[in-house]
Amino acid sequence: MRTQVGIIGGGPAGLLLSHLLHLEGIESVVLESRSRAYGEGRVRAGLLEQNTVDLLTEAGVGERLVREGLPHDGVQFTFDGRYHRIDMREHTGRRVTIYGQQEVVKDLIAARLAAGGAIVFEAEAREIGGLDTERPYVRYVEGGVEKTLECDYIAGCDGFHGVARGAIPASVLQTFDRIFPFAWLGMLIAAEPPSEELIYSHHPEGFALFSMRAPKVTRAYLQVEPDDDVKNWPAERIWEALRKRLGQHEGLTVHEGELMQVGITPMRSFVTEPMKHGRMFLAGDAAHIVPPTGAKGMNLAIADISVLARAFVAHYKRRDSSQFETYGPECLRRIWRAEHFSWWMTTMLHPLMDASPFDKKRQIAELDTVMNSRAGRTFLAENYAGLPLAPWR
Ligand code: PHB
Repeated sequence: MRTQVGIIGGGPAGLLLSHLLHLEGIESVVLESRSRAYGEGRVRAGLLEQNTVDLLTEAGVGERLVREGLPHDGVQFTFDGRYHRIDMREHTGRRVTIYGQQEVVKDLIAARLAAGGAIVFEAEAREIGGLDTERPYVRYVEGGVEKTLECDYIAGCDGFHGVARGAIPASVLQTFDRIFPFAWLGMLIAAEPPSEELIYSHHPEGFALFSMRAPKVTRAYLQVEPDDDVKNWPAERIWEALRKRLGQHEGLTVHEGELMQVGITPMRSFVTEPMKHGRMFLAGDAAHIVPPTGAKGMNLAIADISVLARAFVAHYKRRDSSQFETYGPECLRRIWRAEHFSWWMTTMLHPLMDASPFDKKRQIAELDTVMNSRAGRTFLAENYAGLPLAPWR
């Protein structure tokens, strides 16, 4: 099989790239290691920046998102018995939207298939080669048979555990990372969330986050030990921790309901440079990971794709290949700012179990400073709602 752009990974990044290229008449093939049902069913991120919503809408895949997504003008915080709300609209003129990653994936798959696009499911990429030639290729296994996809360029959108990053020689690959000494226990609950907006709660026993997927579906998270196990968290312990960590605030109640999915997510920061090697580009989680506290992961992946799609359009439409060289540096500036924001939100909101009494007081003072300063609230809101993104074409 031969195409112009070979895309490894059928998550939001790979699928959106394929869709944007198609809008400009550029061919691609997406190789996805899992089944269609897996990608469409797995609960993952859920918060879209204004930029992401605008890009998906402009690209013609935002119809259901605009209809079913839950737009939020504010974000809420509790700590030390206090409650604060930051009005993002007031501070930035922007808002965020709750819409699950798997819904974005469903919309993109539907758009690609309707346009006759090629997505090969259950196709496991095994080897990437020819990156220094004009004929790079991906060898993959589909239904037990080894096949080869030949292309002009390769986009590695295959996530943190994918094979693409490993095709960059260790001698040129730099990685920067940090693992946090806690994890998140995430659960999907068949009940109304405490508020229509997200609540980030700092509590001496640990952080908690109250999000949602629908008006009657809560998505909540609890800070747990890094090596914790779902088995240590029977329902009663979950309800008690959620109630305690939210604290008592007028109008905010934890509603119990069926616990539909419970899982543990590690917390890490990770960046790899460069994002281009020969004829391959990395995008999304293949190149960088943020802890979920800033809700930046999927948004960053989509921002990478807007820059990469623009570079391919310049190359194929105008024979201008200069943006291939600026792709990495342009993305990395935004990535590092998001890394900083995610690290800052994480360290400000999660107590360390072995923190000194001084550090415990200092952490509360930091939250107090941010919430009670117009500049502090604006800084948080600007980054949370998303830094402006240049158009992709
Ligand atoms: C989610 O709804 O899954 C979510 C929202 C905000 C975050 C992290 C996760 O910061």
